[in-house]
Amino acid sequence: MTRPVIELEHVTKHYRAGGGVDDVSLEVAAGDVFGFLGPNGAGKTTTIRLMLDLIRPDSGRISIFGLDPRADGIAVRRRLGYVPGDLVLYERLTVRELLSHFSYLRGGLPWGEIEELTERFDLELDRPIGALSKGNRQKVALVQALMGRPDLLVLDEPTSGLDPLVQRQVHEALREAASAGRTVFLSSHFLAEVEQVADRVGMIRAGRLTAVERVADLRSKSVHLVEVRVAGRLDAERFRQLPGVTSLDVVGQTVHLRIAGPLDPLVRELAHHDLEDLSIREPDLEEVFLEHFGATAPTEPRREAPTHAP
Ligand SMILES: Nc1ncnc2c1ncn2[C@@H]1O[C@H](COP(=O)(O)OP(=O)(O)OP(=O)(O)O)[C@@H](O)[C@H]1O
Ligand SMILES: [Mg+2]
Repeated sequence: MTRPVIELEHVTKHYRAGGGVDDVSLEVAAGDVFGFLGPNGAGKTTTIRLMLDLIRPDSGRISIFGLDPRADGIAVRRRLGYVPGDLVLYERLTVRELLSHFSYLRGGLPWGEIEELTERFDLELDRPIGALSKGNRQKVALVQALMGRPDLLVLDEPTSGLDPLVQRQVHEALREAASAGRTVFLSSHFLAEVEQVADRVGMIRAGRLTAVERVADLRSKSVHLVEVRVAGRLDAERFRQLPGVTSLDVVGQTVHLRIAGPLDPLVRELAHHDLEDLSIREPDLEEVFLEHFGATAPTEPRREAPTHAP
């Protein structure tokens, strides 16, 4: 078995004023997109800075590409692209000058490859960084991380400030990188983003990693939301008594229910009814987190998890 690209073992870092991360262990395999999800102040940026040896843990062990990011810092950085959460760029340089400079620091990259990226993200090369909008600055940060096709991309909220169209372009670029066997570590506030691009998701709250799951597993092990409309008399009690039904609502001739576990009992029950309509859907990750961790996922406040399918 090949070694994971990122390994954190019991990593703890406490800031003097409080905050930090506590006993975080996680692994990310080559070619995986790992979504690192958490609300403000949860410890995402701290974890990323620890991985890059920008700060050092109080205890625990970190390895990147099987190397020690401290002792083998240069070897690690050579293979890594990074978008920091708190972006600082040289304001006076133009986009072209800045990217040439970064390319030089990386030992010189083919300019054509850089231009491919700036065209893809629709960036003007001859504008000074200081004159760029927030979104365009963020694009510059992305281009410098992606250029040279590093084996590992570490991105601290890379799509913040980008419009939805550009966000989608970024997601595409990340999926492409992963299909080419490169590894992506992506922090985000947004469950929807992680759901779209990540293979696995880790959730951090108050410095503690509370869950790590495959996105596909998260969905499948969870509940289904079912909506059944029947003709004729409706005996909702029969549905309520099915194994795994956790909630049930009747509106007119329609039953809305949540069911955990296998669907066979439901399907057998349905055979006894005269169905006018049926929909069964998987909840989105937000609802899954609610179900499993009893907490709203770290995203904007939202309404109650719907018992009604849309
Ligand atoms: N340099 C620092 N000095 C002192 N405390 C810090 C420092 N950096 C972060 N903290 C504290 O550590 C905790 C985690 O912060 P961190 O920046 O890692 O969170 P985050 O998940 O990246 O949040 P955000 O979503 O707002 O970027 C917070 O309580 C924060 O106040
Ligand atoms: Mg942060």
